[in-house]
Amino acid sequence: MGKHMEVVIAPKGDLAVLAADVIEAQLRRRPGTVLGLATGSSPLGVYRELIRRHREEGLSFSRARGFLLDEYVGLPDDHPQRYRNVIAEEFTAQVDWPDSQVTGPDGLATDLPAACASYERAIEAAGGVDIQLLGIGSDGHIAFNEPGSSLVSRTRIKSLTRQTREDNARFFDDDIDQVPVHCLTQGLGTIGEARHLILLASGAEKAEAVHQLVEGPVSARWPATVMQLHPHVTVLVDEAAAARLELRDYYREIYESKPDWQGL
Ligand code: GLP
Repeated sequence: MGKHMEVVIAPKGDLAVLAADVIEAQLRRRPGTVLGLATGSSPLGVYRELIRRHREEGLSFSRARGFLLDEYVGLPDDHPQRYRNVIAEEFTAQVDWPDSQVTGPDGLATDLPAACASYERAIEAAGGVDIQLLGIGSDGHIAFNEPGSSLVSRTRIKSLTRQTREDNARFFDDDIDQVPVHCLTQGLGTIGEARHLILLASGAEKAEAVHQLVEGPVSARWPATVMQLHPHVTVLVDEAAAARLELRDYYREIYESKPDWQGL
């Protein structure tokens, strides 16, 4: 299914349904699907829609595997902002997805490089990620690959930018000092091995990052631009996040005239 980076501009609720449709189709085709899960607010609508389909339409995750993109270093096991807990709370514990089939990098490991290497091996042993959900940081990061990240990087420890810590302070009593300085994150090379990347973005604060992602030069300055090199990328954006796309009318025309059989 190799194709171009596809941009879909639609209201936020519609975007969540589109992403859920792709995931549902894949799960029905192959119940043992490997999903790449993202935290942050961007994928929340997708998770809500999948939970609804589980409850009302019997969509099952019982054989699926899940891998998180990233994790803070040092947050205690039971901290509500530990991404492993966030994803359980917002999604996986609300469906029939066994806890043992969802994993993230271990931000509490005493040997962090070893934890990163073993995470890479676990993804590989599962056969790689089929569908990877992604949000985007206002500074153009994906997962926690901040500006300057190597475009071929693997899972490793990173320092968060001040911008990202300010953006995420809302989850830590609006107190930037409570936001960890370090994280473990899948690298851009790791993420690039997932077979289908679906990125969601909404709101004006993402407009510049989305413009760079789709139309900027591929550069570590805007890490998400590496996605231009991937054969199967879907960028789902609302009007506000699409506002700075220079070719947004063209993307709209392509999508509107797209044959139904093609899918995302
Ligand atoms: C965090 C996460 C990213 C996420 C980004 C955007 O930094 N590590 O995976 O994409 O925030 O978050 P939001 O979707 O809440 O805007």
